[in-house]
Amino acid sequence: GIIILDFGSQYNQLIARRIREHGVYSEVIPFNTPVEEIVAKNPSGIILSGGPSSVNAENAHLVEKSLLEKNIPILGICYGMQLITHLLGGTVKKGIKGEYGKAQLEIQKSNDLLSGVSRNSTVWMSHFDEVESLPEGFNINGMTDVISAISNESKHIYCVQFHPEVSHTEEGAKMLENFIFKICDAPKSWKLTNYIDETIADIKAKVGQQKVILGLSGGVDSSVAAVLIHRAIGDQLQCIFVDTGLLRKDEGNKVMENYGEHFNLKIKMIDASERFLSKLKDISDPEEKRKIIGNEFVAVFDEESHKIEGAKFLAQGTIYPDVIESQSVKGPSAVIKSHHNVGGLPEEMDFELLEPLRELFKDEVRKVGVELGIPAHLVNRHPFPGPGLGIRILGAVDEDKVRILQEADDIFIEELYKNDLYEKVSQAFVVLLPVKSVGVMGDERTYEYTAVVRSANTTDFMTATWSRLPYEFLDTVSSRIINEVRGINRVAYDISSKPPATIEWE
Ligand code: XMP
Repeated sequence: GIIILDFGSQYNQLIARRIREHGVYSEVIPFNTPVEEIVAKNPSGIILSGGPSSVNAENAHLVEKSLLEKNIPILGICYGMQLITHLLGGTVKKGIKGEYGKAQLEIQKSNDLLSGVSRNSTVWMSHFDEVESLPEGFNINGMTDVISAISNESKHIYCVQFHPEVSHTEEGAKMLENFIFKICDAPKSWKLTNYIDETIADIKAKVGQQKVILGLSGGVDSSVAAVLIHRAIGDQLQCIFVDTGLLRKDEGNKVMENYGEHFNLKIKMIDASERFLSKLKDISDPEEKRKIIGNEFVAVFDEESHKIEGAKFLAQGTIYPDVIESQSVKGPSAVIKSHHNVGGLPEEMDFELLEPLRELFKDEVRKVGVELGIPAHLVNRHPFPGPGLGIRILGAVDEDKVRILQEADDIFIEELYKNDLYEKVSQAFVVLLPVKSVGVMGDERTYEYTAVVRSANTTDFMTATWSRLPYEFLDTVSSRIINEVRGINRVAYDISSKPPATIEWE
């Protein structure tokens, strides 16, 4: 397959996805992986990615020059281009203003990478430094305001200053396709059905006659992992479903029905709502609530898992972005929210880990789910945060507020499905404010809580815009919530984008 060396660009996962879309396996590994280890993987090609550092900086992220001498085709993107230039004796200088956003690429001399690409096209730039002089044996193939495509074809080294993996680069897909097939001749060996068969065989071999436990949340990742493992080892898999009391309306029953009955999974349902609610009593700080819910979850899961005799493995629905995230070279970014994920259990638990989805992106997990027979409406569910309604009830949480929010949220989601809007938005839910306002119902004065309807559109959940839902639809949702849910007499729609707001309210 194709190896992507990670120098910290936010686009690395995207490169891997684009390549997999062509049926070619690709993985992202840290830039400082030893050269022998990289070569031992026998890659068809290597991509040196973008990254925030500068090759001229003191602690620049470098690779050994020998990596460029293994006769493996290489593509340098952005920082990768500057790094190759630097390692092979060219020079890189600080740009005057940098280039961010769209630019026009003019091809001066085509090569295998740019084959079939129009002479002029739009590309996406995001860099500060620029290549000043070329290493020996290299040609300039394309220019924007700066040198933007160079290569040494006899050495199979190609570089571009722009990002071919983002959709704003009009002909980027063509360039990546040229790289993987024309230049690397990479085999099309990445097929999800092969992946499923191989993974099932691996699980069987690894687990043997042992027992596996898995924390089932009803979310996409843990459900697909559970069904996949069940395919491999049947009833040796014991799922544990913890009802925190902070789940969506009827979630527990739905999980039992969807996965217990239809897929015959063995699920032990633990009703721990009282434990969670009593620990949360009078706590209103969001981070404190997260911590309490996270700790309590681990405590409950720990107790329950030890009641299951002879369990040797703990299965988790870890997916590839989680893996890259935890190994990435990116510096520590500011903690905005300490994301607690119900899938994330501490490692000191006495089990061997089983993570069958570790190599898959979310859309691939969904495809595996469909392939395994999980209905589309289940694999296409929106993400739901680990702390659940605990962070959607602002301030202190109690049973009454949970019930009110569950009812309101259920109405919103039901209407989204009914109006064919659910799959057009990325995440949608209701937030309950602890603020009361005056209203009138019949001839009576009311004094009740405010609900906020939130819906966001995003691809990566790092940035998001509010969904432009039709007024008529919002009107229906608002009337239904106010008329059907006792405890709410006012509905607002959240029109904030992220940033500067976040998707959740806490
Ligand atoms: P924000 O609110 O940070 O949310 O814009 C981005 C995405 O992360 C989810 N989220 C969480 N997920 N535990 C989780 O498992 C958490 O504590 C948590 N907080 C936010 C949120 O639902 C959205 O999809």
